[in-house]
Formats: sequence, C-alpha cells, structure tokens
Amino acid sequence: MEFNQKVIVVTGAASGIGLALAAAFVREGAAVIASDRNEVLGAQKAQEIGARFVPADVSREEGVKALIDDVLAREGRIDLFCSNAGIGVGEGPETPDKTWDLIQRVNVMSHVWAARHVMPHMLERGDGYLLNTASAAGLLTELHSAPYAVTKHAALAFAEWLSITYGDRGIKVAALCPEGVWTPMIQNAPILQQTAITTDELVGKTLAVLREDGFLITTHPTTLKGFQLKAQNYDEWISKMRHLRGKAMALLHPQGEETRA
Ligand SMILES: NC(=O)c1ccc[n+]([C@@H]2O[C@H](COP(=O)([O-])OP(=O)(O)OC[C@H]3O[C@@H](n4cnc5c(N)ncnc54)[C@H](O)[C@@H]3O)[C@@H](O)[C@H]2O)c1
Repeated sequence: MEFNQKVIVVTGAASGIGLALAAAFVREGAAVIASDRNEVLGAQKAQEIGARFVPADVSREEGVKALIDDVLAREGRIDLFCSNAGIGVGEGPETPDKTWDLIQRVNVMSHVWAARHVMPHMLERGDGYLLNTASAAGLLTELHSAPYAVTKHAALAFAEWLSITYGDRGIKVAALCPEGVWTPMIQNAPILQQTAITTDELVGKTLAVLREDGFLITTHPTTLKGFQLKAQNYDEWISKMRHLRGKAMALLHPQGEETRA
C-alpha cells in the first residue's frame, strides 16, 4: 500500500515503536489517528507529530470499539489499523493470574477486538490492512517473561489466521516481529540492548514490507535464522536458547543474586 491520504490508526502511539510509526505515516501524507491509554503524553506527542489523538485503553473491548467508532465517524474509513500497544510483564508460572489476564488482554485480545470491530467495515469496502505488532518472541521466545513469550506467539497465530481467512476478500495483514528496538520496553533487558536497532530503522523496514502488501516484518537476520533452526532441530534450538538465557540472566544480575525466573 501507499500511505499518502490514507486513514491510519496506531495504538500505543505515545511512545517507542507506535510513536515512530505514527510520525512516519504523517510524513508520508496520511491522516493519522494516534491512540494510547496515556492521555497526557499521548496528546502531547500527537500534537508534536501532527496526528489526531484519541485516548483508548486497549485492554478492554469497549476501549478498542470506541476508538474505531470515533475514527469511522470522523474520518469515514480506516485503511490501516496498527494494533501496536503491548506490555511485557510477569516472569514464570508463579506470575499471578491477574497479570496473565492483563497481558493476554493487551497483547492478544486487543488484536481480536480490533479485528472484530474494524473487519466488517473493511470487508464491506473490500479493502483494508491490519498491522499487528507481535514480536520475534512470537517466532522464537522471550528469555525473561513466559507471559510475554506466550502472548506474542498467540498474537502471531491470530495474524496468520486472519490473513489466511480474509486474504482473498481484500484484507491484508502484517505481523511486526522485531527483536530489540530502543524503546522504554527494553530498559531491563540488557541482552536485547546489545543488538537493538533504532525506531527509525524499524520504521524503514516496516514501511518497506507494507508497501509490498507483505505479511512478515522482521528486523534482525538472527530472527529467521533462529526460526529455521527451531523448525529443523527443536532440541538444538532449545539448547541454544538455554545457553542464551544463562547469558541474559548474567547480564541482568551481574552479582549473580538471581538466576531463575
Ligand atoms: N522494543 C522492543 O524491543 C520490542 C520488540 C518486539 C516487540 N515489541 C512490541 O512493540 C510494541 C510497542 O512497544 P514499544 O517497544 O514501543 O514499548 P513502549 O513501552 O515504548 O510503548 C508502548 C505504548 O503502549 C501503551 N500501552 C500500554 N498498554 C496500553 C493499553 N492497555 N492501552 C493503550 N495503550 C497501551 C503505553 O502507554 C506506551 O505508550 C509492543 O507490542 C511490544 O510488545 C517491542
């Protein structure tokens, strides 16, 4: 797709990847609706980049629906909906259910609710694009947080399913699967910081795939290399990940006070 004069919604647009994507779409000539649950920062950033701000908490279906209703009422259509808001919380199985529930709502159900409420409109027009931010953790894993790894796998699975199911009816779907990107999200993940790219680099890679109406967006060659190893030899991949987790924990806790989830 080309972005000029398109109506593009981005959630989680007060910070990091969402903010960078929203700013890039504005530069491309799109009418951008930036959304976030952080009303103060979101409104300030949207004003700085030239987007319209609509506050929304995507951990609740009503929040996602109200955002979509607002844009359809004001702008009349949605060409690209970027379900980008995400959180990284929890560690292992001891993580309380309420934390599992929250991350499931933000990282997975927000994509389901977006599709539920925007898809009828897109199907009616026979055109529309969904960009769902998953993560390389959806193809591989995340070394610090089981809830993050699990929900990003689910987010990717949902994006695949949508593309397979609606691709022949004019609906395009993309899954954004970055490894480390310099945003507040990786402030406690030194292993990701070692190879992190800037949000500008991420924007370049993302827009290139969207221009081609593509599905999978990765940011590091290691992602697909790891994914291929996982498919070819799961045991060897698990063993490599174990080794990498040891390295990640050593970087996170240099005094060795904590080595387990
Ligand atoms: N930074 C990375 O290395 C990286 C790598 C892979 C995937 N991701 C994914 O990219 C997306 C953006 O992350 P980021 O790195 O820009 O993080 P970030 O923390 O900088 O930005 C996330 C934004 O989402 C908003 N948000 C959180 N919960 C929300 C909710 N319930 N409703 C509405 N907004 C909410 C936050 O207020 C924040 O502005 C996430 O889905 C994340 O999982 C990030």
